[in-house]
Amino acid sequence: MASFWSMWIIILTSITFVGITWILFANRKGEKRATDNTTGHEYDGIQELDNPLPAWWFYMFVLTIVWGVGYLILYPGMGNFPGVLGWTQIDQHDRKVAAADEKFRAMRDRYMALPIEEIAVDPAVRKMGTRMFSNNCAQCHGADAKGSYGFPNLTDGDWIFGGTPDAIKHSITKGRQAAMPAWGTIIGDKGVEDVTAYVMSINGRSTNDEHAAAGETVYQTYCVACHGADATGNPALGAPNLKNGIWLYGGNPEQVSHSIRAGRNGVMPALENMLGEDKIHILTAYVYGLSQ
Ligand code: HEC
Ligand code: HEC
Repeated sequence: MASFWSMWIIILTSITFVGITWILFANRKGEKRATDNTTGHEYDGIQELDNPLPAWWFYMFVLTIVWGVGYLILYPGMGNFPGVLGWTQIDQHDRKVAAADEKFRAMRDRYMALPIEEIAVDPAVRKMGTRMFSNNCAQCHGADAKGSYGFPNLTDGDWIFGGTPDAIKHSITKGRQAAMPAWGTIIGDKGVEDVTAYVMSINGRSTNDEHAAAGETVYQTYCVACHGADATGNPALGAPNLKNGIWLYGGNPEQVSHSIRAGRNGVMPALENMLGEDKIHILTAYVYGLSQ
């Protein structure tokens, strides 16, 4: 705080203290007035009395003033003066965080030592996991973890990057960067149309057989490298299964041909810095448990 505003606060506060003390004492009536103890006001025969404050009330005011002065000496309040105790909100917050960390660390240490498969069914882990998931993941994957367009469902047992505890932990820790190239300029409109028909056909959807047959050749030339000869995908590359009817970007022919023509580049952010190892361990167990 600039020293001007610091002084401003100190002076205003001091004037207020002096002012209220003066009001309190100046209006105190030690003795009853010589008159009849009324203000002289009268309405419809009712007189307004002017009694002194009861003593307990008066001393309560004195006490609050003394309290206020004492408080401003001990704690921050008077402008930049930090108070003789040196208390700060930040210190208090840090102490609380440290205490909470200490409490949870013991519990987390125990979980860190156990395999994911084992703690995935632990009710306490599921409870912590639910809370962590809604704070850190739900905005993308949905509160129920079922995902939406562009954000994978984490409950269905179908994994783009793999569903082992290690793979899930890696997805959360390091993030994932899916790279599906744009094929439009390489295979042309006809190529896109044909290979879309092929992808439809391997999903058991009715389509133009001629296109599908031509599309199979395109597929074997350009797509096998990532999606595999049998089109079941490759978790190491984040290339999804193209024949199980589960789609990240929609499964109608327009959506599939758009994926192929323009490419797709979904990003799962790396959360290791934000969450730390122990929270990620709990979250991995939670996510792993969702599809078991
Ligand atoms: C370099 C590896 C690579 C090649 C080659 C490749 N893909 Fe992909 N493909 C991916 C990746 C990775 C994704 C996932 C993209 C994402 O999650 O954002 C993907 C996603 C898709 C999708 C969307 C799937 C969904 O769930 O919505 C379709 C459709 C697709 N690819 C078809 C093809 C076709 C057809 C070819 C050949 C013309 C092809 N891909 C070639 C890597 C590849
Ligand atoms: C900013 C959005 C966003 C947030 C936040 C986010 N994710 Fe993701 N996540 C994604 C996207 C997008 C993908 C898919 C990437 C791709 O393949 O296209 C993904 C993929 C994943 C995968 C891999 C899924 C698979 O099929 O292999 C896992 C596991 C995952 N996320 C877990 C989490 C967890 C747990 C959290 C919270 C700690 C989280 N994500 C937070 C966007 C997000």
